[in-house]
Amino acid sequence: MGSLTGKRLVLGVTGGVAAYKAAVLARLLIKAGAQVRVVMTSGAQRFVTPVTFQALTGQPVHHDLWDERFDDSMGHIELSRQADFVLIAPASADCIARLAAGRADDLLSALCLARDCPLFVAPAMNRQMWEHPATQRNVVRLIADGVQVLGPDAGEQACGEVGQGRMLEPEAIVAALERIADAALAAAASTGRLRGLSVLLTAGPTYEPIDTVRGITNRSSGKMGYALAAAAQEAGAKVTLVSGPVTLATPAGVERIDVLTAQEMCDAVMQRAHAADIFIGVAAVADYRVATPAQHKLKKEGGPPQLTFVENPDILATVAALPQAPFCVGFAAESENLREYAQAKRRRKKVPLLAANLAQETFGRDDNALTLFDDAGEHSIARAPKPVVARALLDHVATLIGR
Ligand code: C5P
Repeated sequence: MGSLTGKRLVLGVTGGVAAYKAAVLARLLIKAGAQVRVVMTSGAQRFVTPVTFQALTGQPVHHDLWDERFDDSMGHIELSRQADFVLIAPASADCIARLAAGRADDLLSALCLARDCPLFVAPAMNRQMWEHPATQRNVVRLIADGVQVLGPDAGEQACGEVGQGRMLEPEAIVAALERIADAALAAAASTGRLRGLSVLLTAGPTYEPIDTVRGITNRSSGKMGYALAAAAQEAGAKVTLVSGPVTLATPAGVERIDVLTAQEMCDAVMQRAHAADIFIGVAAVADYRVATPAQHKLKKEGGPPQLTFVENPDILATVAALPQAPFCVGFAAESENLREYAQAKRRRKKVPLLAANLAQETFGRDDNALTLFDDAGEHSIARAPKPVVARALLDHVATLIGR
């Protein structure tokens, strides 16, 4: 599990011969576990086509500030908010000049200006362009603005000249990013608000078999639980994630235990709950399971099956009832009467904090809004991407436990 696993990255590609190497770079980043969205300038599209990157990343490629695929023409904001970091490779002399000047008249420059995450640039240009005082001035400006400049390398150039200005090789860029991500994780572990604590989470749905091929499940993408696991890790905690079947990458540094049924989830949690300081139950656990699943595929000819259900254990309530229970956080997805149902759930499960949301406004989405219920009353976390909401929720937990 590398430190780029699960990281969401915008790869900006600008106009230069090295743009062809960005295709290799995109592949390596995906192999390292990152989720890559590519943004191209019009110059870049003269060298490589968007189709190449679309095929490599499996994601649409963006290049237009006025892209109608974004709901409200705010693509630059949306892309930058969803990213853990932005990498521009190759970064042309023009791109560096535009970033230094704070320009925002194309999608890539606008999203760089709108971002609140780190920006890395890997310059690539002719040696004379690199050495030009204007470029050097711009690079100094970028570094002062907190941008991290990777390279360039020295050597033979596409134009036949020899000197500094070659883009770092894709392998070297990935290695540099992994080193930086490792250092960031280590720094968070020593300074984060949850440092030294052990956080146990459940996420995703459970799957309860009816027979060997059919089953009953709940709708849950696992995105909120995984965002919380990543945020707890970032805040310095040792994180264990007990996960139902989802298609998400394990966040860097997080120990993941895969389970299928509610009983398996309960067993995995109860083995570890005594060692946890905080337990967060985000999983959509099936309330009931089929009493005796068939050991073969049921045949249609047998008529509608008569299923008998038995109740599953309530994992959250069981953990909360332990003599030395960790600080327990529950989730409630309701379709109506949010406040009333959530407060009742908090009392019934005896948890100090319950985070409630409207099911129809969160399922499968990348953003969420929460209402928190605790002894002090009610608090709102405004709609934002799930990683942002996760950090806000953990900040609230840290405050409640006196961190
Ligand atoms: O399903 P329900 O609305 O009761 O879920 C509320 C909270 O309880 C969630 O945090 C969920 O993860 C947890 N839960 C659980 N075990 C169950 C049912 C729910 O841990 N069997």
